[in-house]
Amino acid sequence: MLRRPIVIANWKMNKLPSEVKRYIAEISPKLAVYPHVDAVLAGQDVLLNAMVTAAKGTAVEIGAENMYWQDKGAYTGETSPAALADLGISRVIIGHSERRNYFRETDEMVNLKTLAALRNGLSPIIAIDEAVQLESLNDHAHWIVNQVVESLKGVTHEEMGRLMLAYEPTAAIGSGQAMGPDAAQKSLRVIRQTVADMFDQDVADHVRVLYGGSVKPANAYELLKQPDIDGVLVGDAALDAATFIELISLAE
Ligand code: G3H
Repeated sequence: MLRRPIVIANWKMNKLPSEVKRYIAEISPKLAVYPHVDAVLAGQDVLLNAMVTAAKGTAVEIGAENMYWQDKGAYTGETSPAALADLGISRVIIGHSERRNYFRETDEMVNLKTLAALRNGLSPIIAIDEAVQLESLNDHAHWIVNQVVESLKGVTHEEMGRLMLAYEPTAAIGSGQAMGPDAAQKSLRVIRQTVADMFDQDVADHVRVLYGGSVKPANAYELLKQPDIDGVLVGDAALDAATFIELISLAE
């Protein structure tokens, strides 16, 4: 298999430190049943210490939801990629649609964060959004291509082996209505082709590309069956540990 399936829970700003241990204790023994799927939990900064502690010795990987692009300095309130790496964090979501839309993150900032994550040994999950209505999706290939190109500026062939891309149409996020599998496949194909054009076919064949936006057990299998969808980035549905495991089983 060229690309291992992966399910990433993005808890966003929804969990408390006191809820972490129980969730991870519930999912970790069950992951052994699904050895072919990578399981990642991404949490807000204030949870990360508890998440890393609870995940120690398990197959659960812990990711951050955001970070700054400087390693250290007078940037009050920001999170250093060096500190994330030192804490034992392996992955970080960069440029999530909510960061782009609520906090005005630009492609340039996403690129700076991507390079900073790689420099610090973290594996970035670069989110590519598409801010149009679901019915007019796929008319906007240039929008997707542009974000991929801008995000990956200065990334080397070798570093491409450490990152992944996650396509999230804004209209599908948190709406309960996922994009149809065919349309999602079409967008993900555009992303993979863009990687092939920027690097080469081998890099494109190995990079994992995910779909995100109202993924739940009812639609995950059809999405994951698509040839270019290597995994899913899940918000609401993954707040529940049993549902997260169900998604893992569908990815296996
Ligand atoms: O990062 C996750 C996505 O924004 C999807 O969220 O599954 O709640 O639609 P959702």
